[in-house]
Amino acid sequence: MCGIIGYTGNRDCVQIIQSGLGRLAYRGYDSAGIAVCSNGDIDLRRSHGKLENLIARLTREPLRGHTGIGHTRWATHGRPSESNAHPHRYGKFAIVHNGIIENFLELRQELIARGHEFSSETDTEIVAHLISEYYTPDTGFAGAVRAALRRVRGSYAIVAICADFPDEIVAARLQSPLLIALGDGENFAASDIAAVLAHSRRIIFLEDGDIAHIKADTVEIQDITGQPVQRPVKTVQWDISAAEKQGYPHYMLKEIFEQPQKITDTFRGRILEDEGQINLDEKTANLEFEKCSRIQIVACGTSYHAGLLGKYIIEKLARIPVDVDVASEYRYRNPIITPQDGFIAISQSGETADTYACLKIARERGSKILSICNVMDSTIPRASDATFYTRADPEIGVASTKAFTTQLASLMLLAIHFARRRQTITAGDARQLLNALRSVPHHMETILETSDSVRSVAQKLLRASSFLYLGRNVHYPIALEGALKLKEISYIHAEAYPSGEMKHGPIALIDEKLPVVVIAPKNATYEKTLSNLQEVKARGGRIISIVSEGDDMLPRVSEHAFVIPDCEEIVQPFLSVLYLQLLAYHIADLLGNDVDQPRNLAKSVTVE
Ligand code: M6R
Repeated sequence: MCGIIGYTGNRDCVQIIQSGLGRLAYRGYDSAGIAVCSNGDIDLRRSHGKLENLIARLTREPLRGHTGIGHTRWATHGRPSESNAHPHRYGKFAIVHNGIIENFLELRQELIARGHEFSSETDTEIVAHLISEYYTPDTGFAGAVRAALRRVRGSYAIVAICADFPDEIVAARLQSPLLIALGDGENFAASDIAAVLAHSRRIIFLEDGDIAHIKADTVEIQDITGQPVQRPVKTVQWDISAAEKQGYPHYMLKEIFEQPQKITDTFRGRILEDEGQINLDEKTANLEFEKCSRIQIVACGTSYHAGLLGKYIIEKLARIPVDVDVASEYRYRNPIITPQDGFIAISQSGETADTYACLKIARERGSKILSICNVMDSTIPRASDATFYTRADPEIGVASTKAFTTQLASLMLLAIHFARRRQTITAGDARQLLNALRSVPHHMETILETSDSVRSVAQKLLRASSFLYLGRNVHYPIALEGALKLKEISYIHAEAYPSGEMKHGPIALIDEKLPVVVIAPKNATYEKTLSNLQEVKARGGRIISIVSEGDDMLPRVSEHAFVIPDCEEIVQPFLSVLYLQLLAYHIADLLGNDVDQPRNLAKSVTVE
């Protein structure tokens, strides 16, 4: 995830910004940079790769100043490189930015038509150009930023400096965290408390729409129309480790809670709800997967579960046959794949060795290759014809959570796109589906509020030595994912079956000690699942269910029922998996396990 720090005060800012960037490194990044106001101009240094590269550059070519900004970048628009690294400078301004500018293509065209030339592939550089366009003696620095931001759609945390105002920084926030830390004769702006904790604990958290004009001794906050707003100053007591996790005890819990925002980011700029269309990037759209006679999905672990769910949705909506394989199996079975087939590799890291090996097979056999990935320019995207980036930001917890739900969101957008192109659904159907998908973050927020009650259920289950997870249709991959989460971090054995398979074997396991977690919100297969559960109940099994609001049958046979709102089927997997992530997390935490780095597991499996 990108990280921001800005400083204005009496000290030399370069060292302060450099060490702040070091504190942000835990978030993951692929390039870094610093810009300072210096002798009536702006001077900057940027480097691709690790901070050490930037520090070496600063040693060779030092910067000095009292006002400056720094950034660690995690690529979203434009590959990781020095020219795409922030800060971006244009005219008298330099800015750093976290977030996504949705209408950047449109703004870029407009600016090009007015003679602007761009030196990066980023959405961020647009904002530096826009600020310059609006800058006049009347607007001043903060006014120019405000005018520019009125043109921007999307999400941002932006901090800017201006050569004409070498003692000021301007910071603005919309749907991306940004705070101001107050010092004595100096002030800071940062995306993250960890960056500034060494200097101050007095923090102003900016709200959406706030634009702060920051000098060494004053902070003035206005809204986008220029009206003054007041924000409280809070004193934070976190230590650095808590600050890095934004107050959560583990990265995994932080990442579970980030999901509504990350799914919003995945959708950002890609949903044209009014037209019932998906706005894909040109390369992905040009692959024309909707014309393929078959789609082959290959992945490992959690990404494989996302692929399985993708099969249900793509086949249902677009009526294209989809095969899904575990990569380590696919690569050694001389698979049948032709130039008429579309191949989708799903990988959070983009580095998984088995998935990459399968991609090479598909390449040799001439099929088109699309990847769904979270890490820009990693190995798998580089070897693909196009990549749909999930925009989950770096995932630090080894057990995948936000990477999974953003993969689901990506697959659903692709399925709707294929379906519209094939006319297997109408524009009205697509609008309804997209409208439903837009409600996912809101419903997830509601479920996250119940985390403490999930912990109480976890407390009652943690002595079980084995769990069975059941689900039908789109809930079967969710059952698999729930069981994997539990295994990975609690070390309790768990397996998942399609509910209808239970009577073909697993039913023999059922006794009063075995928790059976069943995902059965109201959908076409609900009645069938209900009868499967009567079989569990008759054998004394402990049923933990995920049910739709208003269901008065299943809760009666359940030891505990987690409730999801009555919603479209396409929304249900996001909500049920959220309960299962929370359940696994709380069980593991109550058992005292190392949730973020479970034994024997690696985040990225780059060997066979
Ligand atoms: O980076 P990838 O998505 O390719 O990784 C695949 C699996 O290694 C990964 O999903 C793994 O199963 C996670 N630990 C799941 O939580």
